[in-house]
Amino acid sequence: MRRCPYDPAPEYARLREEAPVSRISFPGGGTGWLVTRYQDVRAMLADPRFSSRQGTTAPQVRPVPAALPEPPPGALLRLDEPEHRTYRRPVMRAFTVKQVTRLRPRIQRITDDHLDAMERDGGPVDLVAALALPVTSLVICELLGVSYADRGAFQGLAGRLLAVDISPEQSAQDRAALAAFMTDLVAAKRRDPGDDLISALIAEADADPDSPLTDHALTILGALLLIAGHETTANMISLGALTLLDHPDQLAAWRARPELADRAVEELLRYLTIIQFGLARVATEEVTLGGRTIRAGEMVVAALPSANRDPLMGLADPDRLDITRSPAPHLAFGFGPHQCLGQQLARAELQITLGSLFARFPTLRTAVPTAELPFRDDMIIYGLHALPVTW
Ligand code: HEM
Repeated sequence: MRRCPYDPAPEYARLREEAPVSRISFPGGGTGWLVTRYQDVRAMLADPRFSSRQGTTAPQVRPVPAALPEPPPGALLRLDEPEHRTYRRPVMRAFTVKQVTRLRPRIQRITDDHLDAMERDGGPVDLVAALALPVTSLVICELLGVSYADRGAFQGLAGRLLAVDISPEQSAQDRAALAAFMTDLVAAKRRDPGDDLISALIAEADADPDSPLTDHALTILGALLLIAGHETTANMISLGALTLLDHPDQLAAWRARPELADRAVEELLRYLTIIQFGLARVATEEVTLGGRTIRAGEMVVAALPSANRDPLMGLADPDRLDITRSPAPHLAFGFGPHQCLGQQLARAELQITLGSLFARFPTLRTAVPTAELPFRDDMIIYGLHALPVTW
C-alpha cells in the first residue's frame, strides 16, 4: 500500500533488493511472479516468450479467470506478433510525432477554452471535471469522430471498467455496452464518413482486400483508443498538477523556464507512473529472468511504478522529483511491442494543459488539504477522483 500519494508502495524497494523476481499469490486465486527491477521489467516486456494473449488486467488486485477467451481481432493489448502489428501499424500513423504536432494548436485552443471558463466562473473548481477530463475526452473524440455529446456514456463505462473491484458480471455488461456504442459509431461512419480516424481506417480497409481491419476489428480498436485515450492522460494532468503544487520549488522552476515543459512532463510521467497495477504476461516456454526460472504457463507481472524508481536504472536519486533532469528512459508507457501507442499525444496534452494552467493562474492552490483528497487507490490507473482548486 502507498504511504505517500506520490510514491509507490515502499515494499517495492525491499523486493528490488531482496527478491526482484518474486513469487506472489493473486488475491483472486492462483500464483505468479512479480518483477520489480528496471532491467528485468524491460527484458520481460521486450521478450516474445512472454505472451499478452492470456495476460489479464492487473492480476495483483483482480480475480484471475481460469481461462480467457481468445482475443477478438483488433484487441491490441491481447495480441502477440505477428498478428498484433497488422492492427497496430495502420493506427500508429495517426499518432506519430508529426501528426501530433499538427494537433497541438487544437489542443491549445480546447485547453484555453476550458481555462477561460474556469476564470469566468471563479474558484473553487474541481480540476478533474473542469479541465483534465473534458480536454482529453474532447481531443480523443475529435480524433476518432465520436460525438462529444456522448461522453456521458463512455466516461461512465471507463470509470467502472478501470475499477479494481468490478465484478465479472458488471465488467461483461459494460464491455457489451461499449461494444454496442462502437458498433453504432462504425456503422454511422460507414454511412457518413467524416474527417476522422475511424472514417480513414474504414476507407483504408475498403481499398485493400488484404486489410485485417474489418468493421468488427474497428469497433474493438476504437473502444480501446477511446478509453485509453482519455482516462490515462486525464489522471496524469490532475495528479501532475497536484504534485507540482506540493513541490513549489519544482513548479517555480517550470514557471521561470517554460522551455522545461518537455523535461518536466517526462519526469512527472516517471515519478508518478500511474499504471499502478499490471502489466501481465504469460510465459510460453521456460524462461530465466532475474535468476529465477519461470515455467511455461506461469503469469508474470511487471511492476512499472517500482521499475521507474529503481536506483539501478541509472538516475541520481530516483525517489526525488527533479523536472530539470535529462529525460530518463522511463517505463511509464511500457516497453516493447505494446509500448503506448498514444504516448506522443499524451505528452503534448500534458505539456499544454499543465503549462497553460500554471501560466494562467499564478496563485493556483488546492482547496482542501492533500491528505483529504480522494486518491484513486481503487483503480488500475492511479490519480485523483477529484481535485478541488482555487486561486
Ligand atoms: C499519460 C498517459 C498514458 C499512459 C501512462 C499510458 C500507458 C500505457 C502503457 C503502460 C501501455 C502498455 C500496455 C502493455 O504493454 O500491456 C499502453 C498501451 C496503449 N496505450 Fe497508452 N498511456 C497513456 C496515454 C494514451 C493515449 C492518449 C492513448 C490514445 C490515443 C493511448 C493508447 C494506448 C493504446 C492503444 C495502447 C495499446 C498498444 C498496443 O498494445 O500495441 N494511451 N499505454
